[in-house]
Amino acid sequence: MKSDCESGGAPSRFASVNPYWETFLDELDLDMTGARGDGCYIETADGRVLLDCLAGFGAANLGHAHATLGARFTDALQRTSVNVFPFECAESQLALADRLLALSGRRFQKVFFATTGAEAVESAVKFAMTSTGRSDVVAFRDSFHGLSMFASFMTGNPFWTEALPWKPGNVHHVDAGNFAALEDMLASRKIAAVVFEPVAGSSAAQHWTAETSARLAALCRSTGTKLIADEVYCGLGRAGAWFGIDAIGMSDASKAPDMIVVSKGLTGGLVPLSAVLMNDGDFDAVFGAPGKAKVQGSTFGGNRLAMQCGLIVLDLVESGRLVDNAAAMGALIERRIVDRFGGRLTLHGKGLALSLTPAAQCDINMADVWLGLIDAGVLAMPNSASPDSLRLSPPLIFGVDEVECLMDRLEEALQE
Ligand SMILES: Cc1ncc(COP(=O)(O)O)c(C=O)c1O
Repeated sequence: MKSDCESGGAPSRFASVNPYWETFLDELDLDMTGARGDGCYIETADGRVLLDCLAGFGAANLGHAHATLGARFTDALQRTSVNVFPFECAESQLALADRLLALSGRRFQKVFFATTGAEAVESAVKFAMTSTGRSDVVAFRDSFHGLSMFASFMTGNPFWTEALPWKPGNVHHVDAGNFAALEDMLASRKIAAVVFEPVAGSSAAQHWTAETSARLAALCRSTGTKLIADEVYCGLGRAGAWFGIDAIGMSDASKAPDMIVVSKGLTGGLVPLSAVLMNDGDFDAVFGAPGKAKVQGSTFGGNRLAMQCGLIVLDLVESGRLVDNAAAMGALIERRIVDRFGGRLTLHGKGLALSLTPAAQCDINMADVWLGLIDAGVLAMPNSASPDSLRLSPPLIFGVDEVECLMDRLEEALQE
């Protein structure tokens, strides 16, 4: 494909970054600029006001232009004269780690900080490989774990890797729910870790249940395989509980995963930050050997601004009772979908990690509904692993008025 510049058309505004993206957006009439955010709404440069049901891929859990977050983060920025200092463990790092461990009910004892979701998922896999001495990993089909090299191969959708001339031989995929295949794979005792999303972000918000997750945990435990919960999307309140594993009924310590990865909502979409929660044993296996005290990390892992931003965001999520709100609003959206669109649409997911699909035997084109929703003033998007469904991941501050607004605009989009 040629960019406009190459084909002699008007120069692309996106030329230096990605003109193909501009072409794609133009074709769908989606080329817009987010000029101003306010709570659950975004105003575009051409004056349209959109109800944001995406929240920056699920990161902006406090919505946009949150006044207290802005004021406290500005204050943190002004007080931070050294952001990255290699020979210390900053107070804010200890405080954020302690906060995350407390939120997990002290099921874990250590926190490893990284920058992106993919980096943290890959770090968790490195910890599992080092701890078990095993080489292979299992992930699920239609999952999403990020687009850095190894994470993109774990992501269970060949779309992301098919152009690459190399594939690692140690990543295996299985359909969620195919326990017979999983059992066979784990029986080889070569599998260091199984990576799963308690509530999936990219595949129609499919989620594990108390029963299936307990079976998964038991299988991993009996074969000495580490179980890693990728909660980059569903963690920290989005699924209506602090952790996705709690939202699906996997709270019992005997069924808990060995590691949980969180990111997106941790800093409200302001600065990149991710974290792996884990046990002393897996941590010690990596960092405890002589000379290995810094064997995993990255330049910005644990930087003070990100740590302070995380602390502020967790404070605001907690004081605003936004985890309960996510559960309540998710339940309200579900009831309203059944009342108004039952027979036409079904809703999947937990809390505000949601997905809309056409009801069985209902011939609705969700791509049309998506574009109709944007015309009607709602930001949503198709799920990458199941494009016939629409992702809804609004800010956790979503309220009753926003739910009603979404329903009215959905009605408009369905009539188009
Ligand atoms: C479940 C899950 N894991 C990992 C990632 C990768 O996170 P990042 O884009 O920050 O690398 C994502 C991003 O969407 C995600 O949804």
